[in-house]
Amino acid sequence: CGIVGYVGAQSALDVVIAGLKRLEYRGYDSAGVAVLADGGLDSVKKAGKLVNLEKELVGHPLPAGSTGLGHTRWATHGGPTDVNAHPHLDNAGRVAVVHNGIIENFAELRAELAERGHKLESETDTEVVAHLLAEQFDAASGDLAEAMRRVCRRLHGAFTLVAVHADAPEVVVGARRNSPLVVGVGEGENFLASDVAAFIAHTRSAIELGQDQVVELRREGVTVTNFDGSVATVRAYHVDWDASAAEKGGYDYFMLKEIAEQPKAVADTLLGRIDASGLLTLDEVRIPASVLREVDKVVIVACGTAYHAGMIAKLAIEHWTRIPCETELASEFRYRDPILDQRTLVIAISQSGETMDTLMALRHAREQGAKVLAVCNTNGSTIPRESDAVLYTHAGPEVAVASTKAFLTQLVACYLVALYLGQVRGTKWGDEIRAVIRELSDIAAAVDTVLETMEPVRALARSLADKNTVLFLGRHVGYPVALEGALKLKELAYMHAEGFAAGELKHGPIALIEEDLPVVVVVPSPRGRSVLHDKIVSNIQEIRARGARTIVIAEEGDEAVVPYADHLIRIPATPTLLQPLVAAVPLQVFACELATARGNEVDQPRNLAKSVTVE
Ligand code: G6P
Repeated sequence: CGIVGYVGAQSALDVVIAGLKRLEYRGYDSAGVAVLADGGLDSVKKAGKLVNLEKELVGHPLPAGSTGLGHTRWATHGGPTDVNAHPHLDNAGRVAVVHNGIIENFAELRAELAERGHKLESETDTEVVAHLLAEQFDAASGDLAEAMRRVCRRLHGAFTLVAVHADAPEVVVGARRNSPLVVGVGEGENFLASDVAAFIAHTRSAIELGQDQVVELRREGVTVTNFDGSVATVRAYHVDWDASAAEKGGYDYFMLKEIAEQPKAVADTLLGRIDASGLLTLDEVRIPASVLREVDKVVIVACGTAYHAGMIAKLAIEHWTRIPCETELASEFRYRDPILDQRTLVIAISQSGETMDTLMALRHAREQGAKVLAVCNTNGSTIPRESDAVLYTHAGPEVAVASTKAFLTQLVACYLVALYLGQVRGTKWGDEIRAVIRELSDIAAAVDTVLETMEPVRALARSLADKNTVLFLGRHVGYPVALEGALKLKELAYMHAEGFAAGELKHGPIALIEEDLPVVVVVPSPRGRSVLHDKIVSNIQEIRARGARTIVIAEEGDEAVVPYADHLIRIPATPTLLQPLVAAVPLQVFACELATARGNEVDQPRNLAKSVTVE
């Protein structure tokens, strides 16, 4: 997750450890360093926080050297153990590599390396790179940058790599595809890091590597080439952020950064899960297809935002698989003596993987003989460990207490689970699945479009800063989105905010409507289930007639809502079931801006914890 590389005159170990500390905010579950000295390479790595690594370094001091690299890992392939921590070395211990991202074809490369006699020790995808680099370093007559380019041309997926070789004592190379990598340009020293926070104590001159580029760092300079070996043109820029802004990538709050990261988080969660024929390969779901074919009921348990993802997942699962599915608050589930057996699939959704309510629910489910599939963002956490299988969301670490990018990736993961169930059971197959997957693959760009058009939403939020109540309405998948919009506002703005099923309004809540009360309405697509759309347009008219100030979230081209919208927020057209992936985003931005306008602490709202480990 955090990467630092250094070549210069200072102690590489000191620079690297200090850099990793500046990247700690990104979250990680293990850490490691490697240093070149006296013609050799030495490395130390350890599960847990940097203090564990520092303790380990007392017993195993590294030689003083001025070329080195380090990494803090957020586990994806393989749990957060000492062995899986980075750097990874080749068998001769001459190459050290650190990596962010996912190498999709690692199984194939691993098999190929094993055939050539390499012994791979960890469960990570990264280790194959160390071995390939060692081979290519020799083949390229000791040119580490050329070796890196050759290796990168063989890798599929998203990756940022930094490597050193004992036989290239004053060289550090880096490669970038998708995940960021920034060069810090110093005098007689140069730096590489996943973000500028790692080196702004040393230099403010930076170069951001572009897609598919390799950089070679020496004391006296940096050379950037493309993967094909051609020289790349790069532009140096000056970093004028202070240290704390640098941690947040220049954003004022982690929440804003995480909202902005959503297109990438969504794309990353799909990455490596679609095979060449456009169908799903969820190798992680270790529940045999024969068991999944026998499932006659799905129960989803979760808390907070994850529960809202579960409510949407229910609709997708029932629609695509025709298996009855219920979604329940984890804290309620086990105390009502739920009916479960071997044919029940329980899906536990949790960003942290540590929420006690959810953990207790899954333990209860397993005691009854049900199979449990975790949808989780934190590799190696308790909930996936205690489940029969896990599908990880690849949102990356989420720091802000109010969940944003984790929510979107939970939705993506749940859609994948629903489609996968359809695929193995034959209720959705072939072209139908491919079509939905293509639609899902387009969503990252749609989220990007939403993010680019948020200024009016922020202005609207500021204008409502002195209100006491905001209501949210939705139908079908829009109902959980309304609940999530209200939850965000409670969490961040400390306002009375409630979400309702729009059709239920007339059975009570409509009595709350008074002059100028802001009501946010999530409008389903007029295409697809037009009946839902028409009903909600009537609901908007009903509340407007009673004085509500209507804030309407509707897809591009939906003209029917225009006459009844006091404020209109446009979102790109998406298939009905996938709409929450775009409709939730303006509500996140709205709540964050309202909280700021009210002077609230955005990243750590009062009374809340990111992960609640009590029942
Ligand atoms: C806490 C957090 C919420 C989160 C919920 C579930 O209450 O404040 O933002 O949605 O826990 O967390 P989990 O880690 O299980 O997804």
